Amino acid sequence: MAMVCLSDFEAYAKKYLPKIAWDFFAAGADDCSTRDENILAYKRIRFRPRMLRDVSMMDIRTKLLGTEISFPVGIAPTGFHQLAWPDGEKSTARAAKAMNICYIASTYSTCTLEEIAAAAPGSLRWFQLYIHRNRAVSQQLVQRAEALGFQGLVLTADLPYTGKRRDDVRNGFRLPPHMKLKNLEGAFEVCKMSPLDPSVTWNDIYWLRSLTHLPIIIKGILTKEDAELAVRHGVQGIIVSNHGGRQLDGGPATIDALVEVVEAVQGRVEVYLDGGIRKGSDVLKALALGAKCVFIGRPALWGLAYKGEEGLQDVLRILQDEFRLSMALAG
Ligand code: FNR
Repeated sequence: MAMVCLSDFEAYAKKYLPKIAWDFFAAGADDCSTRDENILAYKRIRFRPRMLRDVSMMDIRTKLLGTEISFPVGIAPTGFHQLAWPDGEKSTARAAKAMNICYIASTYSTCTLEEIAAAAPGSLRWFQLYIHRNRAVSQQLVQRAEALGFQGLVLTADLPYTGKRRDDVRNGFRLPPHMKLKNLEGAFEVCKMSPLDPSVTWNDIYWLRSLTHLPIIIKGILTKEDAELAVRHGVQGIIVSNHGGRQLDGGPATIDALVEVVEAVQGRVEVYLDGGIRKGSDVLKALALGAKCVFIGRPALWGLAYKGEEGLQDVLRILQDEFRLSMALAG
């Protein structure tokens, strides 16, 4: 099968992954209206292309908080990569390094932060944090990530509780016994409560600030009000995100929310976006509306499901080629 566009990887993953894993990756909250809107919204946005502008030479590199990347796409944090490929996050880290882009490793990785760092030494990696009720666990994770050379701390703000994903409920989804949340081993006490802390507030940014010198990037912002608060609390970056439509169903598509966030921020911090990026032209639309870089969630998992590190590189290369072509054709 010729893999021409990201949908080809999606079709492959749907066909070959165990149903329970596919359903977990694909899930959105409730009736998935926000998940689907993330994609539909791109189709409503049209370019105003310009002609005869000499596009024989193009530079698609950019910088993330000062570090150069080969093009403005990175890998969003997603959990459980071993559900897609046996080497899990180690493969993800290697692919990101080979493509010279940023990989945001999830708290819910199935490889340790040490394994991820060793798989791709010297590459650009950020660590994504969910704050746990047991604050010592979160503190230790942040400090471990910093010591291992992760260069940014991404605080996910949109998951005080996990959204209701119907297929996961129906399937009774949980990790197969041979996979572990390796960074949290021993951290879960036997209790009925979720280990995630739903009492997190803006003040906790100051707490994080006291733990680490890493730049803090906040993920899950969708309004100008929260963008302003984020800047005022001293973050270095904002990821406009609705968690791929897996949390609050009924919120806006991220590409629609981007504009008000960019306007509110006025260039004071970098603004990124994730959600629904499936083509190079989607990347260009997000950049045209003010994002510095975008991140892909599910497409990275489809690439892993296809051929591990190589499959993920294929996904990234296709997106890179399409992005370059869209830039040229848009003048
Ligand atoms: C996620 N996402 C996510 N976000 C996060 O901050 N920490 C995490 O552990 C996870 N885990 C996760 C698992 C799976 C299977 C998916 C699909 C998503 C959200 C993710 O970072 C990102 O916001 C969305 O995936 C972006 O949307 P697309 O690219 O999947 O449309």
